[in-house]
Amino acid sequence: MTTPPYHDQRGQGLFGGRVAIVTGAGSGIGRATAIALARAGARVLGVGRRPEALQATAAQHPGIEIHPADLRSAHAPAEVAEAAVAAWGRIDLLVNNAGATAMMPLADTEAARVNDLFALNVTAPSLLAAAALPHLRRRRGAIVNVSSTYGHRPLPGAAHYAASKAAVEHLTRCWALELAPEGVRVNALAPGPTESEALSAAGLPEATVRRIKETEARQIPLGRRGEPEEVAAWVLRLADPGATWLTGQVLTVDGGLDLT
Ligand SMILES: NC(=O)c1ccc[n+]([C@@H]2O[C@H](COP(=O)([O-])OP(=O)(O)OC[C@H]3O[C@@H](n4cnc5c(N)ncnc54)[C@H](OP(=O)(O)O)[C@@H]3O)[C@@H](O)[C@H]2O)c1
Repeated sequence: MTTPPYHDQRGQGLFGGRVAIVTGAGSGIGRATAIALARAGARVLGVGRRPEALQATAAQHPGIEIHPADLRSAHAPAEVAEAAVAAWGRIDLLVNNAGATAMMPLADTEAARVNDLFALNVTAPSLLAAAALPHLRRRRGAIVNVSSTYGHRPLPGAAHYAASKAAVEHLTRCWALELAPEGVRVNALAPGPTESEALSAAGLPEATVRRIKETEARQIPLGRRGEPEEVAAWVLRLADPGATWLTGQVLTVDGGLDLT
């Protein structure tokens, strides 16, 4: 009999007994990550704005509970951490995955859109990490931040999205050093173009979404966009309690796009 991924020889999940918060768990990479963690034994608190999207994720595994919230609102980060601790008494892992993209050429820059993007992609994961920190310290836990290939590669026409992900990558390195003495590991995953709701959520018309997807697939050396499950697998590897000496790293998983 073959052992399922992230289980030991006795079938024990590698995240057995551990508690994870996954933001943006109602779709795409976050949904795939929540399900993969739950299958590997974790109890998962899935966060996002749409209750019905989170419920659809939770319906796929009994180890997933949901906490609908807009992470940009002032009290949300503390309430998310409190909800996980109220349910299970601990936090071992924070996956800062919720994020948005925005096409915004320099000439069209608007303060409100810049602020909105940074509120979600930079401020919210920072405040959530701060709220979870006392619990992560106690468990010598881990943070996985989700960046993008474009966190370290220029993206004309979407500079503020790329800059917000560059911020995520540098926060990762700074927090890794800051928290290393306490045994809390911090790493980032930088996916390339992956099937999800991200382009539609950015408000782009379907024809534009289709065109972008075709162009991206042509640019990627492995010849296609990624699937959320292919990205989620690497979130789990960075978070793996056995990866005890890995911190401050940004891993690009993008079918080779970064090499072009
Ligand atoms: N797909 C790609 O090509 C790609 C490439 C590189 C990096 N990424 C990054 O991967 C991460 C996941 O994106 P995805 O591709 O899986 O896209 P997605 O399907 O659009 O997922 C984003 C998730 O974030 C949640 N979210 C958005 N605004 C929120 C808010 N204010 N409060 C709480 N939750 C919020 C959304 O749920 P609600 O709308 O219900 O709130 C959604 O479930 C993002 O950080 C993205 O930048 C994606």
